[in-house]
Amino acid sequence: MVDALLGLQWGDEGKGKIVDFLAHDYQIIARFQGGPNAGHTLYIKDKKVVLHTIPSGVFHPGLMNVIGNGVVIDPVSFEQECNEIEAHGIDLKKVLVISERAHLILPTHKALDKASELNKGVNKIGSTLKGIGPTYMDKTGRNGLRVGDILRPDFQQRYEVLRGKHLDLLGQMKFDEDISEWENAFFASVEALRKHTIISAEYYLNDAIRQGKKILAEGAQGTMLDIDFGTYPFVTSSNTVTAGLCTGLGIAPQHVGKVYGISKAYCTRVGSGPFPSELLDATGDTLRANGNEFGSTTGRPRRCGWIDLVALRYACLINGVSDLIITKSDVLDGMEQVGVCTSYVMDGKETTQFPYDINEKEIEAKFDYIPAWDKNLSDCESKDDMPRNFMRLLEMIEKHTQVNIAYVSNGVGRDQLISMKGNSTKP
Ligand code: IMP
Repeated sequence: MVDALLGLQWGDEGKGKIVDFLAHDYQIIARFQGGPNAGHTLYIKDKKVVLHTIPSGVFHPGLMNVIGNGVVIDPVSFEQECNEIEAHGIDLKKVLVISERAHLILPTHKALDKASELNKGVNKIGSTLKGIGPTYMDKTGRNGLRVGDILRPDFQQRYEVLRGKHLDLLGQMKFDEDISEWENAFFASVEALRKHTIISAEYYLNDAIRQGKKILAEGAQGTMLDIDFGTYPFVTSSNTVTAGLCTGLGIAPQHVGKVYGISKAYCTRVGSGPFPSELLDATGDTLRANGNEFGSTTGRPRRCGWIDLVALRYACLINGVSDLIITKSDVLDGMEQVGVCTSYVMDGKETTQFPYDINEKEIEAKFDYIPAWDKNLSDCESKDDMPRNFMRLLEMIEKHTQVNIAYVSNGVGRDQLISMKGNSTKP
């Protein structure tokens, strides 16, 4: 059986901590999409570790970790990440396997990402510039290089062919930065990547399912950044939703069990694009400061706003979320009131459906407000301790999404996660 764990917003929902918490129920943790654009923060013996491409199960003894075919790998950042993890005494060659079908991010992909954003000017996506978009473009354009290719004797020639195409494009885009250092680093890191365990991950995972092992598919980014269902074109280039795990791991839909959907108690977005419930005032600044809302991959300040139940309901629908997990609830402690976006007004009409294109249109978010609570959520040890007004927020979330909340995270600590099972807030 395979369970999924996904972000329901624009990424950065705090998925790393939840994977870490749930990991002991599984034998395998698998990544199925995205690449080094992701940043999953974990605290190992109080030391902060940010994982980008490697699944969050690597710090759990006895767990296997899989990088699936749907992931894109930059050998350079992958090697850096491996070094950081191995400094904690972990032998990745024993606990990590990589699909031979995963695509490689080349130095020229990163250059193309940068050139494309520069050319777009004010309309830029706000990409992490890790080469994600150009790599997926080459994948669907049937030009890409895959991890398995590094084991072929003609890898260098294949590389040169693709590089040539990219240099032509870069010339047309008037990009003339010297990337020779990136290329040297790339080839050194490809050597390191060759020493890892490169396999047919789809066979490995399906064998594991047959043996009754439990797999957790760990999503990266979030539903609103999905290439099909997100706020296109301000999205990433992969399917971040539950369906993505089937194509990104080679697992059939009937094996999918629970879908854990992660949402913050408020909302953030990093990069450009529509964000209907954004707060551009001092309240947004307070959320950013209290929630330490700065990108774990790029360090950019995140845009902050109130929770958006129109978008959340849509995300639950597309993903088939069975268990909701609300994170960073404690960040709302001390706010004068807490806003909840319950509908949008577009062209004078109120709607609770997420529109096809909210980029061009004027959209007004409608809010309900919940009064402040006097007790800190971070001090709560069970759902019975939770302030009544916070429970009202949870009730609204459950009512709008029609999904039960399984857990509430109320602090960065590993133990600050409250089970809501058997709660009285069922819709
Ligand atoms: P790309 O995936 O680097 O091309 O970036 C596309 C958009 O997705 C940009 O707005 C990024 O800021 C955003 N993005 C990509 N990865 C993440 C993530 O892991 N968390 C939050 N936003 C992300």
